[in-house]
Amino acid sequence: MSDVLQESSYQADSLIAEDIDAYLDRHQHKSLLRFITCGSVDDGKSTLIGRLLYDSKMIFEDQLAALEADSKRVGTQGQNIDFALLVDGLAAEREQGITIDVAYRFFATDKRKFIVADTPGHEQYTRNMVTGASTADLAVILIDARKGVLVQTRRHSYLAHLIGIKNLVLAVNKMDLIDYDQAKYDAIVADYQAFATSIGITGFTAMPISGFMGDNISLRSDKTPWYQGPTLMEHLETVEIDADADRAKPFRMPVQWVNRPNLDFRGFSGLIASGTIKPGDAIRVLPSAKQSTVTRIVTADGDLDEGVAGQSVTICLADEVDCSRGDVIAIAGNPPQAADQFEATIVWMADEEMLPGRPYWLKLGTQTVTANIQAPKYQVNVNTMEHLAAKTLELNAIGVANLSVDRQLVFESYADNRDLGGFILIDKFTNATVAAGMIHFSLRRAQNVHWQASDVTRERHAELMRQKPAVLWFTGLSGAGKSTIANMVERKLARMNRHTFLLDGDNVRHGLNKDLGFTDADRVENIRRVGEVAKLMTDAGLIVVTAFISPFRAEREMVRQMLPAGEFIEVFVDTSLAEAEKRDVKGLYAKARSGKLKNFTGIDSPYEAPEKPEIHIDTARMTPDQAAELIVEYLLDR
Ligand code: ADX
Repeated sequence: MSDVLQESSYQADSLIAEDIDAYLDRHQHKSLLRFITCGSVDDGKSTLIGRLLYDSKMIFEDQLAALEADSKRVGTQGQNIDFALLVDGLAAEREQGITIDVAYRFFATDKRKFIVADTPGHEQYTRNMVTGASTADLAVILIDARKGVLVQTRRHSYLAHLIGIKNLVLAVNKMDLIDYDQAKYDAIVADYQAFATSIGITGFTAMPISGFMGDNISLRSDKTPWYQGPTLMEHLETVEIDADADRAKPFRMPVQWVNRPNLDFRGFSGLIASGTIKPGDAIRVLPSAKQSTVTRIVTADGDLDEGVAGQSVTICLADEVDCSRGDVIAIAGNPPQAADQFEATIVWMADEEMLPGRPYWLKLGTQTVTANIQAPKYQVNVNTMEHLAAKTLELNAIGVANLSVDRQLVFESYADNRDLGGFILIDKFTNATVAAGMIHFSLRRAQNVHWQASDVTRERHAELMRQKPAVLWFTGLSGAGKSTIANMVERKLARMNRHTFLLDGDNVRHGLNKDLGFTDADRVENIRRVGEVAKLMTDAGLIVVTAFISPFRAEREMVRQMLPAGEFIEVFVDTSLAEAEKRDVKGLYAKARSGKLKNFTGIDSPYEAPEKPEIHIDTARMTPDQAAELIVEYLLDR
């Protein structure tokens, strides 16, 4: 009896607590809606954004400053600001800022705060739109009522849908210029509906507006009595946003850091990506799948009875489970998967094309791994949605490809969870973000192919050969003398009863790699395969000598990483281009100079010299035999 009473009084308490939370939520913390406007300059984007800022009477200081720079006649806090002047100012700012990828503008009403991402509309700005859209809850697709659905409309809608924006507004603008004609409006909406359905968009909200006249922006227009829906501002203020939907999903929190100020406290800090969590809940740490129970949910403002999506918290667990940055804490009964091979959509954002096979950093939430992308399955024409064959992806291209990563990645499909399904790719040398990606699913073969342990280990193989395996990786221009020196090294080692094998560029390209040419992509694949072969040979106990131009640092580094520390010995055969060209043993430089041979290293294809090779051979200062002697000595000293 008393238990029941206690329970009911507890319930009453928690209701009050909930009410207070709701109260605070509503009156203190207005929700934030992030949205993006899509359309070309002519569609009236600046006018619309200007109208929203003007109507909300929220002109922020930076915008004022920009306007002030533009004209001295500016009023204060939006009260006296002239609307036309405001729009001109925004447009001018946009034009001056042509190098700014995405301009973010802020405004607020009584009900909500807003951040609008303003991106240029041209096709070559796919990258910018994807950047602006990646954090957006809603997209306003602007249509010029006189022109109807255009190629850009399709492209923008496709991208917004691809990025996973659930709320689309079809804003049929410039209604004043078609005399608020309902039939024309209906035809545009029907036209868009057909297209939207064809690409899988399940719903959108259409509205007739005029940014210039202010029709149906904040005030319902008397020119469109036939339109019963909300004004744009009403819709923006009330539309349900992802944050709400995220709470309903299963609990996931990528761990940002382990909080251990002293021996008595150990907590895991991060931003709750989805779902809710309470003390007492059973959780699993992924990818290890170790289970435990939540004991506390700590924040700067004290402990919580419940943590929800969007909050930054520190979670304490009942057990001393292994858990570190990059792991994901999930509800035990419904955890995400972990895998190391995926199919994904990739939006390429770098000037340099994607190189299948090249290792890139892949960042997904707090996890960072090395990824290899395979040649695209297809590329999407963003104007027609057609699938095209592609060997690589260039700037602004969107394609679908398989990729593999070097350890288990905790993920969900992007459609289910933007936080655990979206990733970026980063160039390992320049640290530039080169792509954004969205995981579709993990590949079955990742789940079904397991590593087979063999009883005769690589250590046993080496023991039987009575040697320490190694890879002597020669790199240098064509004609530098790699093959000549490599050959001598192998002869010297053979005389010492060492077991070796020489992999030479020209030879391997007659067999294993005869399908490859000399584009950047093919060279990357050439080195990737040779690296894998060299690794297998060291597993078998051999001393491997390779002679490939191997012009890119990234791939030489990749092979280094494949091998145990110290087994990769980079030998830079350093000959000046002039000297190599003078020798021109195979006559290839002459051909390249005369234009008969394309993509020749040193002429019209790059060579990236090693920065810290283990062995540096200056061919101007020693004979091939001296060089070989030096290399063998290095190997014996090791
Ligand atoms: S790599 O760049 O992919 O490492 P690899 O070492 O396999 O090149 O092959 C280089 C050899 O191919 C050269 O020694 C040369 O004989 C021949 N070759 C033919 N075309 C080219 C070219 N365009 N660039 C460089 N080497 C070429």
